[in-house]
Amino acid sequence: MAGSSFAPFSMVATTDLYTDFGRRNRIGAPNARTAAPAPGVAVGDAVGARGAAAVAAPAGEVLLRARGLAKSFRGLRALDGVDVDIRAGEIVGLLGPNGSGKSTFINVISGHFAPSGGELTLDGASIVRLPAHRIARAGVARTYQIPRPFAHLTVLENVAVTAAFGRCARSRPDALAEAMRWLRFTGLADKADASPDALNLHQRKFLELARALAAGPRLVLLDEVLCGLTPAEMDEAVALVRRIRDQGPAVLIVEHVMRAVTALADRVIVFNEGVLLAQGSAADVMRDPAVVTAYLGRGAHA
Ligand SMILES: Nc1ncnc2c1ncn2[C@@H]1O[C@H](COP(=O)(O)OP(=O)(O)OP(=O)(O)O)[C@@H](O)[C@H]1O
Ligand SMILES: [Mg+2]
Repeated sequence: MAGSSFAPFSMVATTDLYTDFGRRNRIGAPNARTAAPAPGVAVGDAVGARGAAAVAAPAGEVLLRARGLAKSFRGLRALDGVDVDIRAGEIVGLLGPNGSGKSTFINVISGHFAPSGGELTLDGASIVRLPAHRIARAGVARTYQIPRPFAHLTVLENVAVTAAFGRCARSRPDALAEAMRWLRFTGLADKADASPDALNLHQRKFLELARALAAGPRLVLLDEVLCGLTPAEMDEAVALVRRIRDQGPAVLIVEHVMRAVTALADRVIVFNEGVLLAQGSAADVMRDPAVVTAYLGRGAHA
């Protein structure tokens, strides 16, 4: 990368996600009609919180395993002993009310924050003490809840940064070629030379995806990439996420838009106040009284 104007990869992974709080139970919170447990309908695979056995995933070996994963911020337990498996080739939807620990989970997996406790393995090897760039090299890529491209680089260069410093180290020409491939994949090829400032929200979200994919990940962590899109843009994004999985990586997608989660996720996990509240099919977990209460508050079943 001699002569490259790219920023070091560690810079890519150091922006803070601590944003967007103050929203309260947005869309994705089930409405009374769809969420209330139908009489006589079993909760199915939805399981209780701490210590719950993982639901059998559709296929693949366990890629990422979290056991007792914890993260505290000055006494606030953002993650409070989470057990989650993500298997190769699956799309897992991560739901939960605002402040339930979803972004923190992504931040801890990607090495943005060191966990306060617990185990985290990728392909059986611990990644607990690895810095973000080493975790990226090991095959974990993530998007940020609020896209934060490098404003001084073009769209193409923004993607080339992760292509250069991701799972495979690449020369500048190779990184640019790889970046172009992912811009085509995300439909942004004609914006390659543009400044990220010239992109609309939809395009900035897809730029986030292209940057994550260019790293050659085995696991992609998507933090609300669909939020704020129009219904048509969302359909396009859902199709894109499916195509991402078809390329090989497992996907963990944090999303409040239930229509998208239902369309995408092989299974869903739900956090509440830093603990795993439920997991199973989207339909089953959204009928789980504990999930309904977490989203709508006590008395939702009255
Ligand atoms: N860097 C930080 N410093 C202090 N507290 C934090 C930090 N990041 C997260 N928190 C706190 O941890 C808890 C979980 O936050 P997190 O961002 O993981 O929630 P979330 O489920 O992603 O919410 P949202 O749906 O609003 O994005 C919240 O109480 C939040 O205020
Ligand atoms: Mg979040």
